[in-house]
Amino acid sequence: MPSKTPYKVLCVCLGNICRSPTAEAILKHYCDAHGLDVIVDSAGTSNYHPNKAPDIRSQKHAAQRGYDLSALRARQITITDFTEFDLILAMDHENFDDIQTLLRKAIHQYGTHQIRAKIALMSEHDPNFKLQAIPDPYYGGADGFDRVLDQCESSSQAWVEVFKQHMNVGQ
Ligand code: 4NP
Repeated sequence: MPSKTPYKVLCVCLGNICRSPTAEAILKHYCDAHGLDVIVDSAGTSNYHPNKAPDIRSQKHAAQRGYDLSALRARQITITDFTEFDLILAMDHENFDDIQTLLRKAIHQYGTHQIRAKIALMSEHDPNFKLQAIPDPYYGGADGFDRVLDQCESSSQAWVEVFKQHMNVGQ
């Protein structure tokens, strides 16, 4: 029997160098730990940092909790992503609105039948930070980077429960 196509999730923030690469690594960690067949990627709504590694502060704080972000490289979200990913997760409400705007372009280009992606907030099911934005840490201090990690861990665990209960992912 051919194996089922993996479920594909795209984590999206503004720059793709702080929050969404952190979310990518952490969501992947929890999906792998639960044996879920999920591919996780990340992108930015902007093209401020094409092909850049994650911010060194994000890398350092993530490494302190055992996540290696060093191989990740920034890219901008494209309308093709809406045809390839099953779920696009916005780190904050502005990202969410920008993704919705792009979705309308993707529908115009490809037609609704080609669109795979559902759009949600990273914190959609998070019992600890429910529907809260993951604040942009770029211009702030160290505590902002730890908060990103706290929220990504909490939200990722919540998504894993959703994947296990409702989506038959990887089973
Ligand atoms: P991110 O953080 O959206 O979490 O990757 C930012 C990184 C860079 C910039 C803004 C936010 N920037 O303006 O360059």
